[in-house]
Amino acid sequence: MNNFSFYAPTYFAFGKDAENEAGPLVKRFGGSKVLIHFGGGSVVRSGLLDRVKASLEKEGLGYVELGGVKPNPRSGLVYEGIDLCRKEGVDFVLAVGGGSTIDSAKAIAAGTVYEGDFWDYYEGKPVDKALPIGTVLTIAAAGSEGSPDSVITKEEGMLKRGASGEAYRANFSILNPALTETLPPFQTACGITDIIAHLYERYLTNTENVETTDRMIEGLIMAMVHEAPKVIKNPHDYEARANIMWAGMMGHNNSCGVGRTQDWTSHNLEHELSALYDVAHGAGLAVVMPAVFAYTMKHDVMRFAKIAVRVWNCDMDFENPENTAKAGIEALRSFLISIGMPKNFEELGAKEEDIPAMAHTCCYGDGSGSGKVVGFTELDENDVQNIYRLMV
Ligand code: NZQ
Ligand code: ZN
Repeated sequence: MNNFSFYAPTYFAFGKDAENEAGPLVKRFGGSKVLIHFGGGSVVRSGLLDRVKASLEKEGLGYVELGGVKPNPRSGLVYEGIDLCRKEGVDFVLAVGGGSTIDSAKAIAAGTVYEGDFWDYYEGKPVDKALPIGTVLTIAAAGSEGSPDSVITKEEGMLKRGASGEAYRANFSILNPALTETLPPFQTACGITDIIAHLYERYLTNTENVETTDRMIEGLIMAMVHEAPKVIKNPHDYEARANIMWAGMMGHNNSCGVGRTQDWTSHNLEHELSALYDVAHGAGLAVVMPAVFAYTMKHDVMRFAKIAVRVWNCDMDFENPENTAKAGIEALRSFLISIGMPKNFEELGAKEEDIPAMAHTCCYGDGSGSGKVVGFTELDENDVQNIYRLMV
């Protein structure tokens, strides 16, 4: 296991009616004037926004509102949010929604206290300061409620890029699984796929002797395989939703990823798809993951064979471990299809002719990229094109 430091000081309030703690928690973490940030309206329709506002009012907290965050959140609304926070003297940013809303809120929180362009953080500058952040999560998926990350799309060039730093860990996150019961089955499945991707991309490591985190990851993926069909069948299965919601947090706050190299190739390739076609991140990952894994499998066949046996109950073929590794990738693909995820470019709405441009942006970005996608393996532009072609 590699050396590491791990500091993840988010306070979690988990369970039914937990959103009523929003006001007391903002106060506890020093807020007096709050920006409530939300998406396209699901939190208005469900009545959640009103409950959160009532909780703030009960504590005598002032607030301003900014809605309209789109899935795959854009830089334009971030600039608007920064202007609003400065004008209104906001000292706390509260995201009420999914990963897109939380990521947009994080960017606003950092941009408000930074003299330069907030996009600097999305070009590699570590996020070292931001206004305090709280979240009320409505979808188990991105893990942004516990992660030090945010992903934003810059409209100019449609570049989807991530930023990281300790200041991006939320001070508190409210996780009420009942809030996820209004999700359409497709969004629920996209979320589960993203959770599984976060776990796989940590599992694909070049570090040896990481049995503790290997076992944590395997256990969490097995829990998702067990719980997913229940919520697809019955969206009101609170207990299954609760298990999925906590797995989403555990899967991405990096407790399973410390002390080991990680992959992130699938995420890098997916971000090009969601930037270009505005597809749901989880749906993109469902198409990307099996292709990336099939292409990179030979780098460490035994790692793929191990997850195939332990998670997907595949038989170990000692004569030819590659067969076991392949069976595991197929089992993952079948599972994702079984919960309603797309399996190829056509079902996703992606076009073969865009492959060269996507591979180029993936490797070089706006000129800041190294020309390689480095993770479990090192891939060049040609490899990335080959992987996209496996998805057609
Ligand atoms: O906008 P509203 O109206 O709220 O609707 C949303 C949106 O259309 C809807 N929704 C959310 N909760 C709902 C609901 N509808 C009904 N009932 C509810 N309870 O679901 C749709 C998707 O929401 P979104 O926030 O986009 O989903 P998700 O949490 O999957 O976030 C995706 C974004 O997170 C980024 C992705 O790239 C993508 O941009 N990621 C962020 C990460 C991080 N910060 O650590 C890591 C991830 O790997 C990921 O890259
Ligand atoms: Zn993800």
